[in-house]
Amino acid sequence: MTQRPRPLVAGNWKMNGLRDSLGEVSSICAAVARDGAGTAEIVICPPATLLMAAAAISEGSPVALGGQDCHNEPSGPYTGDISAEMLRDAGAAYVIVGHSERRSGYNEGNASVHEKAAAAFRAGLTAIVCVGETKAEREAGDALTVVGSQLAGSIPKISSAESIVIAYEPVWAIGSGLTPAPQDIADMHGFIRGRANQHLPGQGAQLRILYGGSVKPTNAAQLLGIKDVDGALVGGASLSSAEFMAIARIYR
Ligand code: PGA
Repeated sequence: MTQRPRPLVAGNWKMNGLRDSLGEVSSICAAVARDGAGTAEIVICPPATLLMAAAAISEGSPVALGGQDCHNEPSGPYTGDISAEMLRDAGAAYVIVGHSERRSGYNEGNASVHEKAAAAFRAGLTAIVCVGETKAEREAGDALTVVGSQLAGSIPKISSAESIVIAYEPVWAIGSGLTPAPQDIADMHGFIRGRANQHLPGQGAQLRILYGGSVKPTNAAQLLGIKDVDGALVGGASLSSAEFMAIARIYR
């Protein structure tokens, strides 16, 4: 039997969190310390303003940190942007790229996501590359085609199963309370693993494919139990350490 990759539960705080919220990082680190080994890998992606303070809190803990986006250049005249190297310097080990809120809100296409994923690799970060179809695309029967072209366009050739994580996040499931039917998730994750095997030959089984979109403590056991789901990318529910850990503890 092929060894399954270690599950990963990542929290995407989005544009939420002031210094007050650092207590949630402390609570997560304390909970992970209590739980001990054998659990899922835990990643928190706070806003960039909190990364260094979060890193000071999580030092010595297995809890890892991530950024929510990065520029493709290491430095330069890009006012307001943050490079993968800067995220790494601030204490991140991961970075989310190609989240649908950036693909749609900032017109980020696959080529841009590809460059950002390559920048993450250059900086020594693991890229969490997000893909997912809109409601209209799913209803038109195009979900697999859309995700297939996002994968082909967004994943650099230099990637390996260790340097990349795929998050399947149907756009219509994010923040909506809606989730796809379990069979649709299983079909999509199986499809992504098949494509990954072509793209990263022989490494498909080791690639972590997360599901994201309205993952809550109430539905996590079902969603994380679906074949080929190796963890979750959690938005809203990650803002509460108790809810986030209730999701992560599905893997205990
Ligand atoms: P949600 O967000 O869990 O609030 O639906 C998920 C995401 O956008 O990563």
